[in-house]
Amino acid sequence: MMEKLRTIRDAAEAALGDATGPDALEAWRVEFLGTNGQVRGLMNALKDLPRDQKPQMGKALNDLKETLEACFAQAQGRLSATATGPSIDVTEPGTAVHQGRRHILTRTIDEVVEVFSRMGFTAVDGPEVEDEWHNFDALNIPADHPARDASDNFFLASDGGIRRLLRTQTSTVQIRTMEAQRPPLKVVAVGRVYRPDTHDATHFSMFHQIEGLCIDRGLSLTDLKSALIGFARAYFGPDAEVRMRPSYFPFTEPSAEVDMKMLVRGHMQWVELGGCGMVDPNVLSAVGIDPEEWSGYAFGLGIERVAMRRYGIPDIRWLFENDARFLRQF
Ligand code: DAH
Repeated sequence: MMEKLRTIRDAAEAALGDATGPDALEAWRVEFLGTNGQVRGLMNALKDLPRDQKPQMGKALNDLKETLEACFAQAQGRLSATATGPSIDVTEPGTAVHQGRRHILTRTIDEVVEVFSRMGFTAVDGPEVEDEWHNFDALNIPADHPARDASDNFFLASDGGIRRLLRTQTSTVQIRTMEAQRPPLKVVAVGRVYRPDTHDATHFSMFHQIEGLCIDRGLSLTDLKSALIGFARAYFGPDAEVRMRPSYFPFTEPSAEVDMKMLVRGHMQWVELGGCGMVDPNVLSAVGIDPEEWSGYAFGLGIERVAMRRYGIPDIRWLFENDARFLRQF
């Protein structure tokens, strides 16, 4: 009988290894541990054993039953672990993977600079923390000019007697470029500028400008206008137009506001983009360039205005809230 018990144990262990699904496992349980199973069969045969063998055999049979029950529980655990593992329902809608993209302003900046560089302008830049010389004096903005009021600027703590501020315009880069390089020059600079404006749909205390500066011999308003038209057509399309309205800036003479006619939601519309003019002789003198020999034109356009009108964005604040639902649209 001991022999038979071992045979059953070996057979049960081998068969359990082959039981890979719930049905096979159940069949195994019925075969070995069921009411009419092999273990039960041996237990029934106990009563026919000689009395002195019964205790030993009984214990061996109980051990076998417990071992097989433990094996069964283990196999069941293994099977259900695989069953609850990753299951794939190919009819379920997929999880959308959102691809990252450049911010709409970054893209606008890159595209605008790309157009100007094809037109022969070199990209330069300058610091956002400036001194009054670069932000005002060298740009022919007198000491008593209202643009210098504390309420219109972010002044910083002065440092060694020099008052510093967050630049209010990228025109500062005109000065920095002319201080560092001799003419002829043809550069553009894009960057952030800061003004203490109350935030609303069209105002934000930080925004971006693109500044252009060209210094050469014998430049005239014609050169300025053809540069602006060249940009407008390349960027907004062949039907774009440029309009210059007389204006005043301390650093240009004459000065003008620049409007560009572009497609705004299906209609050609005039949009004010910034200012421009012929570089004032006082500005050239301030950086040691002889205004008798050299002349220049300059312009400054608002990047947010370009992007907002081109893409029909009604509120400048949306550009800086970084709500992915908004940014994903561009
Ligand atoms: N700096 C001016 C502003 O912030 C814009 C501007 C006007 C720039 C005329 C220029 C210019 O270069 O020539 O409003």
